[in-house]
Amino acid sequence: MEPRQTLSLDEINLSDIEFWTRPDEEREGAFQILREQRPLPFFAEPEIPVDWIVPGPGYYAVTRHADIVEASRHPDVFCSGRGATSILDMPEVFREFFGSMIELDDPRHARLRGIVSRAFTPRMLQRLEDYIQVAAAGIIDDVQGKGECDFVTEVASALPLKIICDLMGVPESEYDGIFARSNIILGAGDPEYIPEGNDIGAALLTAGYELSELVQELGRHRTEHPTDDLTSALVHAEVDGEHLSGQELGSFFVLLVVAGNETTRNAISHGLKAMTDYPDQRKLWANDFDGLAGTAVDEIVRWATPVIFMRRTATRDATLGGQQLHEGDKLLLFYNSANRDAEVFSDPFVFDVRRDPNPHVGFGGPGPHFCLGAHLARREITVMYRELFRRLPDIEASGPPEMLRSSFIHGIKHLPCQFTPV
Ligand code: HEM
Repeated sequence: MEPRQTLSLDEINLSDIEFWTRPDEEREGAFQILREQRPLPFFAEPEIPVDWIVPGPGYYAVTRHADIVEASRHPDVFCSGRGATSILDMPEVFREFFGSMIELDDPRHARLRGIVSRAFTPRMLQRLEDYIQVAAAGIIDDVQGKGECDFVTEVASALPLKIICDLMGVPESEYDGIFARSNIILGAGDPEYIPEGNDIGAALLTAGYELSELVQELGRHRTEHPTDDLTSALVHAEVDGEHLSGQELGSFFVLLVVAGNETTRNAISHGLKAMTDYPDQRKLWANDFDGLAGTAVDEIVRWATPVIFMRRTATRDATLGGQQLHEGDKLLLFYNSANRDAEVFSDPFVFDVRRDPNPHVGFGGPGPHFCLGAHLARREITVMYRELFRRLPDIEASGPPEMLRSSFIHGIKHLPCQFTPV
């Protein structure tokens, strides 16, 4: 890919949703200019067409890899628990469903993460490993005779959804409803998921409430009748004599559904586009799948950067990348930009399945919030591509991707693909 610098420094406005509808090459060109000329620019907040939301004071966009690593390493100065990790502060009524560990600081964050991590036992992960293989094979069984399909809805999104639901012990009859609600939560700015004129806040709250209720109901059942799923482990897990509350279980599930679904599906979808655009790289990987899986999968995550940013808030006056900041300032860590920083990556705009080292920040920077599901996501991407190469070896994208309208998720909504039917 060649970045295209179609905007001048002063024309770049990351708060304008139109910026996020530009082709990837143009966005990359703009971030390249920022990294080189104005690495911590300040922007007014985006205009949100919701009358009960009061716009905040604006934010600094952190665009260089070194500054994002620095901020991630110092959660005492650049915290997650003031306001939110989204641009707007989270209204209080949203906390019940959306205020999980990603929005907390230590010690509350460490307590929750401890309980949850303890539930991810080796036995649980082994069970999951077997299930990823079965689920990926089943997804390909369903499409292999067609010769063409929508790769996103029929292949890429089916896997993470099945895995999260199986992990938590959610019955298959609920999968479609969970998929629709997760689309609402992360696709709120896209009219395909919330048609214009609808009340975005009400749609988000309803989706959060329904997901939370579903898992709390399951949790009540598992308290009496434990099984070997994560919901059982969570309702029985104890750290320092403490259990998760119903609200904590509910908001954790909302986080898992949102964080685990859209991200992994987009990594898998961007992966197919990359395999199509760079056939030499595809050939390299297909010829030595196991040998290159480790580097290829991380390169897919760097290339895709499914989560564009996370916010931090300054807890006191500080400097970052030479910029003076004041207590309460918002910072957006633009992972997409860090992942193309020429100071860290040689030929950052080249997709290279052998890239090593690859210190990308696609799963977040080094710090307490580093992605809890990174291992699981890597396994899902690996198993899916192993199955695809083995069973549909000539699969490729057959048209342009239809992109999600979002400044937060680098999402592909639809991607036509074709292959020789079997
Ligand atoms: C390619 C796939 C994925 C990407 C790109 C991704 C990205 C991220 C990023 C950037 C963060 C950091 C948030 C921050 O620093 O504020 C994060 C945190 C998190 N992710 Fe992932 N994620 C992926 C897959 C998953 C999966 C499969 C799960 C669940 C099973 C998951 C669960 C979480 C959770 C629970 C957190 C919050 C951790 C904490 O606050 O301590 N993620 N993820």
